[in-house]
Amino acid sequence: MLTRRLLLAAADSPQARRAVLAAPGGRAVVARFVAGETRADAVVTTDSLVARGLAVTLDHLGEDTLDEAAATTVADEYLGLLGALERAGLAGRAEVSVKLSALGSGLGADGPALARTHLRAVCAAADAAGTSVTVDMEDHAATEATLAAVAELRADHPTLGVVLQAYLRRTESDCRELLGSGSRVRLVKGAYAEPDDVAFRDRAEVDRCYVRCLRLLMEGQGYPMVATHDPRLIEIAGVLAVRAGRPQDSYEFQMLYGVRADEQRRLADAGETVRVYVPYGTDWYAYFMRRLAERPANLGFFARALVGH
Ligand code: FDA
Repeated sequence: MLTRRLLLAAADSPQARRAVLAAPGGRAVVARFVAGETRADAVVTTDSLVARGLAVTLDHLGEDTLDEAAATTVADEYLGLLGALERAGLAGRAEVSVKLSALGSGLGADGPALARTHLRAVCAAADAAGTSVTVDMEDHAATEATLAAVAELRADHPTLGVVLQAYLRRTESDCRELLGSGSRVRLVKGAYAEPDDVAFRDRAEVDRCYVRCLRLLMEGQGYPMVATHDPRLIEIAGVLAVRAGRPQDSYEFQMLYGVRADEQRRLADAGETVRVYVPYGTDWYAYFMRRLAERPANLGFFARALVGH
């Protein structure tokens, strides 16, 4: 727990970022979790995953955009990416994931409206390309505004999906609001350091909430996206899907690029839809540190690679 908190703190530290970049094997290690820095890298990685029978969601890395021009650049990148996926014939198997903060939601009083305008443009481009958008969930301060933005835009873009985090005490009730037909909910445990009054601390409590939410989603009319690497929760999801009488194409499993590729393969071979969350871009540092915080065992892998073994 202490290691996790330290790594999450390091995710915000410019000094720690410089240390990773300066280390001889730093960039190579990051490549395990990040497709590359350019759109072309993202398309190549998507192509190879799709060729292996997997679906993809692409995330252009970047959080907390600091000015309007940067938010526009992020939105334009998504528009360019969606065009590139369509041209490569990949849009049927690849969607995009976006963070409202990257689209400018944090830029003062006008930020939320700006982010919605950009999100609307990304959704329209996704519709035109024949694919969908899912909105990532950031820390708890953003939950309410994110759900409100998604609810508003779903009126015009019904395939717009959203992430819910099982560690938040409010999430079971949010699930109940999102059980309608066509509702795409990506259920995750949650990756940010949150205070006790809003989030469960105990891992077992988070897992129990995840199962309660899964049951609701599987019994609902929407499209559950089971985003976890946890073997127990994956098994429970399968059981709940069968109990709810769901065919395999009425829900999907999702995992992060570079994490449990063997399990991704096993599920796909068993006929399940498996979507890999593929991040790309130059702003990979905070994402990378959160992955280390989730599984401090990866620190060993990181340390070995840095010294060249
Ligand atoms: P957890 O980390 O508890 O791991 C459970 C078990 O999984 C481990 O005990 C181990 O058995 C296995 N495992 C995990 N990592 C492994 C590895 N590297 N190798 C082998 N086994 C491993 N979070 C957020 O707050 N907002 C968001 O928008 C998103 N979006 C998102 C999208 C997708 C597609 C995914 C998969 C995840 C997210 N997350 C997220 C991250 C999420 O909240 C969570 O931090 C991670 O998925 C890790 O949690 P797990 O459910 O995998 O379980």
